[in-house]
Amino acid sequence: MKDINKLIIANWKMNPQSIKEVETIFTNVSKSIKNIKNTDIVICPPFPFLFLKAKIKNKFIKLGSQDVFYEKDGSYTGEVSTSMLNNFGVEYILIGHSERRSQGEGNEIINKKIITTLKAKMFPIFCIGEKERDNNGFYLSFIKQQIIEGLSNITKIQVKNIVIAYEPIWAIGANATREATSLEFIETRIYIKKIIADLYDIKTANEIKIIYGGSVNPLNARIFLEEGNADGLLVGRDSLNPKKFCSIINLASK
Ligand code: PGA
Repeated sequence: MKDINKLIIANWKMNPQSIKEVETIFTNVSKSIKNIKNTDIVICPPFPFLFLKAKIKNKFIKLGSQDVFYEKDGSYTGEVSTSMLNNFGVEYILIGHSERRSQGEGNEIINKKIITTLKAKMFPIFCIGEKERDNNGFYLSFIKQQIIEGLSNITKIQVKNIVIAYEPIWAIGANATREATSLEFIETRIYIKKIIADLYDIKTANEIKIIYGGSVNPLNARIFLEEGNADGLLVGRDSLNPKKFCSIINLASK
């Protein structure tokens, strides 16, 4: 059965710069979310700050990492394994974020990372999304290829543990050209479900969580959650601001 909890994920990216700031954000978020319902909150800080989550004892906040490497151990300078992340209580891992894809990470590597994450019994948050929309729908083929190649060799049982985050690049970050509409999310969600149904089956397509990311803020969060029927949100900039992040959480928790 589909888990109906909404998933609100914070992607802190390469922020903030000090332990003190991390503690402030964790503490302020934790203080404001004592009674939330039907909502899972995942915070993905940079690797060096993962250990700080242990200081806050809030059962609603789960820990995520922003990346992982696909090998178990060995001579891979600069990389981090699932076992290492496991030590810190990491449960979710962002994979294939557009900011990593833009550094050269392709679908094949992303697929390996997803498989490694699933084997480690952690949840991959598989990020997909087009650079721009065209009127001929070429962007749909791009999304389709990301999904098919990213999910290569992943079984029906495994795929249910993957969260798909649709993040159109044109709507992400300070350089976003505009915000996405709930209709654009709905259309893409239907398309993603169709691809999953073709690869697996309709039941699987209905069970898999599809969340939205790209300039999510307290004003548009409701649109994606209610009108767009998103299973959750991936929040960048506004997740660093406890007040804004908590108001997004409260909208999901209603
Ligand atoms: P943004 O980032 O909310 O700052 O647009 C979202 C993301 O890149 O995950």
